[in-house]
Amino acid sequence: MPRKFYITTAIDYPNGSPHMGHAYEKLISDCYARWYRFRGDQVHFLTGTDENGQKLVRAAEEAGEPTKDFVDLQVDKFRKLCADLGLSHSDFIRTTEARHKEAAQELWERLQKKSKIYFGQYEGQYCLSCEAFYTELQAADGKCPAHGSPLERVKEDGYFFKLSEYAEWIEAHIRDNENFVWPKAAHSEILNRIRSEKIRDLSVSRPNHSWGIPVPGDEKHVMYTWFDALINYWSAVRNSEEKWWPASVHVIGKDIVWFHAVIWPCLLKAADLELPEQVFVHGMVLGQDGRKMSKTLGNGVDPYQIIGQFPLDSFRYYLLRAIPSGGDGAFVIKDLVMRHNTELANDFGNLLSRVVKLALKKGGETWESRREDRSFDFPKLFEKLEGSMTRREHHRALESLWLQINQLNLYLNDQAPWKMEAGSEALKSCLSNALFGIFGTAVLAQAFLPEVSRKILQTLGQPEVLGPEVLAADSVSFRLQSPEPLFPKIEWKEES
Ligand code: MSP
Repeated sequence: MPRKFYITTAIDYPNGSPHMGHAYEKLISDCYARWYRFRGDQVHFLTGTDENGQKLVRAAEEAGEPTKDFVDLQVDKFRKLCADLGLSHSDFIRTTEARHKEAAQELWERLQKKSKIYFGQYEGQYCLSCEAFYTELQAADGKCPAHGSPLERVKEDGYFFKLSEYAEWIEAHIRDNENFVWPKAAHSEILNRIRSEKIRDLSVSRPNHSWGIPVPGDEKHVMYTWFDALINYWSAVRNSEEKWWPASVHVIGKDIVWFHAVIWPCLLKAADLELPEQVFVHGMVLGQDGRKMSKTLGNGVDPYQIIGQFPLDSFRYYLLRAIPSGGDGAFVIKDLVMRHNTELANDFGNLLSRVVKLALKKGGETWESRREDRSFDFPKLFEKLEGSMTRREHHRALESLWLQINQLNLYLNDQAPWKMEAGSEALKSCLSNALFGIFGTAVLAQAFLPEVSRKILQTLGQPEVLGPEVLAADSVSFRLQSPEPLFPKIEWKEES
């Protein structure tokens, strides 16, 4: 029986243009979606946009456009980013869609029926950029702890969710399930926060706003945008809930862990819905100066500075390998160029080109690799990668793959098949081993370098998509084609 794997990204605020952080999160998630498909699971991969917040209203006002028109245009940019990144998502959800509105209202009603929502008065401080409330303790100076900007004082009637009822339960759930919030550092951090902060009831509505999802039965209020946003993960699959629910992994950045690791599970628990298996927290992509990318600092790299100028797989490889999973990392174009030219072009691209050219010259198009002749243990390497991917350490999976590539290069240098006699057994065995080595690497690289793997498999005369079982096949036949350069070298000057 294939297992199911339902993976989601956070849904992005489309008030500005998509940035590197969005691209990073989508590419990581895509890599996991592809890996689970590769190992034979049924995969549902969801991404989308978070459109109901007041900051969208403000951004539209600033642009001088009606909110709906503004949001529609902005969302197109996010859809385009997904296409331009070659994302393999199954669905793109917008929180202004009817399917989402219905689901959010249904969930609200379920909570209300169970008396988990009550009417009261909220007094406190609000940050529009975070769309979040802050207590006096969190923001004693009246400034947003994340943005440093002055908070809005709000005093309003509204609805509350009885989050405090679940304080002990959520602490125990996180404590007893080490994998629920991953990696370990994020797990400890959230546990410490729960232990040091009092969990209060959550304000879940805003009054008198014309933009947002109306509270059922009380049109004077709309839902608080984080309340409805979290529900997107459920609304997208509500029509095939038995098949996909609960989510396997929510991939999110470390700035929104509280919402996903505390609020979301409590909402689900209160609504009698199953909890996600894991909240996987990635780090931040930083500017070249090691600080958080920001417009004001001018240290950002626009994903479109990279897309179109560099092969997509080089961009992907750089983000997946250079930023260790769970940690922060600076995006430095010079480093991307260096990794492209050395690890991708020299180590991998040249390997394919020299082996296939030599094989074509010395033995023609048709080659065979038999299990008993193989020098490399790819089923074992698959298990290693599987371990890294299960631990959500994609950068380690790539490291293992590159160790294999380097081993192959050493093997060739050592054996020097170019010096061997045409037609000899030694030459045949060396080249069929090397061809199988390239084949195995390309099969395992599909989730990380989809475009390049496809081209390599094509050069070897193999089907485009293959699963790990081919690595243990008794015999694999290749029908070689002339290789095209996989990673043409890039000249890069700092000022370009
Ligand atoms: N709309 C909310 C999420 C709601 S999910 C139910 C939101 N949107 S966001 O556009 O601000 O961020 C979307 C995702 O991008 C978040 O997971 C966030 O952590 C991530 N990133 C934003 N900036 C980032 C970097 N500089 N680096 C890496 N990821 C970052 O929050």
